Amino acid sequence: MAINGIASLIYGVPDVAEAKRFYVDFGLTLDREDDKGADFSVAEGATILIRHMTDPTLRENVLERPGVRETIWGVDNAENLDELEKKLAAQGEVSRDEDGTLHTVDAVGIPLGFRVFERNVIAGEHVPTNTVDTVQRWDANRKWYERAQPRLIHHIGYTAPKDDIDTIEAWYVDVLNFRVTDISRGLATFLLADGRQDHHSIFIMDSEQVKAKGITWNHVSFGVENIDELMVGANYLQRQGWGSFMGISRHRISSAINYYANNPGGGESEYLTDIDYLTDEWKPRVWDPRFGMMMWSHEIPDFMNPEPDWDVTVLEGEVPKFSEIR
Ligand SMILES: [Fe+2]
Repeated sequence: MAINGIASLIYGVPDVAEAKRFYVDFGLTLDREDDKGADFSVAEGATILIRHMTDPTLRENVLERPGVRETIWGVDNAENLDELEKKLAAQGEVSRDEDGTLHTVDAVGIPLGFRVFERNVIAGEHVPTNTVDTVQRWDANRKWYERAQPRLIHHIGYTAPKDDIDTIEAWYVDVLNFRVTDISRGLATFLLADGRQDHHSIFIMDSEQVKAKGITWNHVSFGVENIDELMVGANYLQRQGWGSFMGISRHRISSAINYYANNPGGGESEYLTDIDYLTDEWKPRVWDPRFGMMMWSHEIPDFMNPEPDWDVTVLEGEVPKFSEIR
């Protein structure tokens, strides 16, 4: 079985027009709209559907705040989808709709689905970089971007009560064959789908740590070409009035440069670039949360003062449960 990414996200939002305006400004392609919602896509082929939170076609709501009501994961072929269906049926209830998408819930009741997903090849460009000792660019500026145009859905994140994190993590590992790639001690666990190598496909964070209750939608991350495209996207969003509570930074835990924008449809939407890729040899590490979290480009937020502990430990052998990591 190989889960090869995120094929679709279905939002339930308080205000369809605002949520649509945000994703237009964010740079997604608007494919269709009517008074019930809007359908967007990215170059890789994934879709982002905006619906009103009372829309009867949405899955049952388990979230304390608005956000994505169902994530449809991509599976690489029909045979593997059939195999997954059997596995899911052995765990609980699973249904298949007329377009072939499987629908189920995870171990704590969060709705999710699966369908065959043929990822389009994304055209990228090598953008030359100059460093102190390597010059790739003579008589030339860096590539100029007019607008950010996210190419793919990279990962998603939820918050959950601390006691549920072990259960969710085990379900993704045992049922979906994800692997734990890193752990931020007491804060979050990072899991990577078996058909991906780009650090994490989902992360689950302790709700209490971000002053949330129950299960909440946290964010979706979209891949862009490089930091220039990310900055142009951030500038454009700011000019349209969309805020960010953290600005531009680099996560140390995955090396990804990130910009989280506040999404009126729920949670945040992130531009991401330059993330680490992992082989099968990768060993998960346990990080001091603040050390693993980020380095900032601008003012350090209060919680990142003073200097974090430079504390990161490589795990050998089996990964302990999230709650057992000290
Ligand atoms: Fe993220």
